[in-house]
Amino acid sequence: MSEAVYPVPAHIAASATITAEKAAVMRAAVQQDPDAFWRQEARRLDWITPFTRVNDSNFNEADFAISWFSDGQLNVSANCLDRHLETRGDQAAIIWEGDNPAESRVITYRQLHEEVCRFANVLKDQGVRRGDRVTIYLPMIPEAAFAMLACTRIGAIHSIVFGGFSPDSLASRIRDCDSRLVITADEGLRGGKSVPLKANVDAALDHCASVEKVIVVQRTGGAVKMVEGRDLFYAPLRDAASVDCPYEAMGAEDPLFILYTSGSTGTPKGVLHTTGGYLLWASLTHDYVFDYKPGEVYWCTADIGWVTGHSYVVYGPLANGATTLMFEGVPNYPDHSRFWQVCDKWNVAIFYTAPTALRALMREGDDYVKSSSRKSLRILGSVGEPINPEAWEWYHRVVGEDRCPIVDTWWQTETGGILIAPLPGATALKPGSATQPLFGVEPVLVDAEGKVLEGATDGNLCIAQSWPGQMRTVYNDHDRFFQTYFSTYPGYYFTGDGCRRDADGYYWITGRVDDVINVSGHRMGTAEVESALVAHAKVAEAAVVGMPHAIKGQGIYAYVTLNAGEEGDNALRKELVAWVRREIGPIATPDVIQFAPGLPKTRSGKIMRRILRKIAEGDVSSLGDTSTLADPSVVDHLIADSRLVN
Ligand code: WTA
Repeated sequence: MSEAVYPVPAHIAASATITAEKAAVMRAAVQQDPDAFWRQEARRLDWITPFTRVNDSNFNEADFAISWFSDGQLNVSANCLDRHLETRGDQAAIIWEGDNPAESRVITYRQLHEEVCRFANVLKDQGVRRGDRVTIYLPMIPEAAFAMLACTRIGAIHSIVFGGFSPDSLASRIRDCDSRLVITADEGLRGGKSVPLKANVDAALDHCASVEKVIVVQRTGGAVKMVEGRDLFYAPLRDAASVDCPYEAMGAEDPLFILYTSGSTGTPKGVLHTTGGYLLWASLTHDYVFDYKPGEVYWCTADIGWVTGHSYVVYGPLANGATTLMFEGVPNYPDHSRFWQVCDKWNVAIFYTAPTALRALMREGDDYVKSSSRKSLRILGSVGEPINPEAWEWYHRVVGEDRCPIVDTWWQTETGGILIAPLPGATALKPGSATQPLFGVEPVLVDAEGKVLEGATDGNLCIAQSWPGQMRTVYNDHDRFFQTYFSTYPGYYFTGDGCRRDADGYYWITGRVDDVINVSGHRMGTAEVESALVAHAKVAEAAVVGMPHAIKGQGIYAYVTLNAGEEGDNALRKELVAWVRREIGPIATPDVIQFAPGLPKTRSGKIMRRILRKIAEGDVSSLGDTSTLADPSVVDHLIADSRLVN
């Protein structure tokens, strides 16, 4: 833990929307009368039918419910587009920066409105109706935002699947929510290399009966197979579509989108967010945490395939009438100065990225940063995993030249938006700490037995009260929703994260305490990688744990037991790595495969992951009690072999 404290810079406090005084007043207000506070805050959205109900949530099993503003009606695309036309129709809504630095597009609010209406009409013409699910498998191109907003305009529910997922992963996500239509591109483009998106969709659809239509945006113009009667190129449909499309009045609790995310057990869960509370949370947090000022260019580097892209590339900034930069490429192409070149090119004021990218760039030396001016930068943000103090200090000193506050934002797919983060004009910073909860967020630390811990302590992070942006259910499996998040510590939402609270009431996230690992800021369930491995004909059993990794934060360490008679060699290692990449996608690439004749199991057959984690970490001095193992000698073998693979 770093002891350093960075006070709020005077130049930031002087113009901040939320100053320390204002924050204190707001904290008192939300505590005193939460419903009145949220009634007031919800006025930042345009409502078609004003709500009278505010928070009807309860985390207890007997009357379990999560519901906000339930009798109000609104439309997300109207909030992100129509209401801005009069005041900022000609302002840039989206600045798109291509993978190739010579390619870019600026789309004004008026143009965005037109494009979204056209896309919405195309969807309607293809039979998409309110409540239907639409799967989006697109690269970071403006059409991705058009498609998302088009769904919201007509009340369709989008489910975005990250372009790095395999055909199998895509297929299971399409099947789970029964999508009728898939929107994809011929190919994606990242770091000068093409990604065969349409070919992946073709492979996925061999296993999906529900899909009637595929809309193909032409990004590269590469040759793709088009299935007669099913596949349609987007451009001619767009050209023929009307630029008028009235928006649907949606209930605040109507589903807005599904986004699949990994948990400790089973297949990925369809996290469902609804219309009113989610949009309020995305908008409010974007405004307060980034201290967004009208006219500023704001850039979040996340892909729209992750929740960060949903809330902080598209919905939050556009609801606030901001100019949001959308980046197709990667941080190291054409070279490691790309981020900073883009900041200079578009005068980026607010820059939001992930620690893994910062660590990768830091390793390349300061010259790539210093070759740019970065004078437009005002606020820096971090998200996705704990940021190590070393990377934090580098971000602050080298990238921000000691003048830009860093907002380290803790949140999850499930939370819809940021829950714990500094307010740049109000909160002193500590490198590595997400600092303090936002208004109305009540973190609680509990021990393994569920006892609430007070004061400076370590514990499991729970949230005691609902907030508007909270997920509402697991799509089609409300029982799994309750069991996953509310049954471990009754009465609380359990985050799955470990956390330490210091004497100043600052929160320090220490990482997942469940079987989820965080690889380059991406969530991966160890169970998913295990089931991919055991699907291989030569594998009998597999156990996967996280291991420390200098760039990725965590790497994937797989212990693999082969079928009798199979020989574990380097060729098979390579084959298994390729196998997992094909089954799940490149983000699940194992870093280490250790062939293990036996795994440490209790007498009842349960794998002792604690021991496997320690061996993967190279920390074998404190393995704890191994006497309960069915065969304690397994551990010595694993330790000896781990020295060979590492
Ligand atoms: C981790 C991403 C520490 C955490 C928005 C959480 C973080 C998981 C931070 C959610 C942070 C995210 N500091 N840890 N600032 N932000 N995490 O659903 O373990 O992809 O539970 O959402 O990432 O990942 P998810």
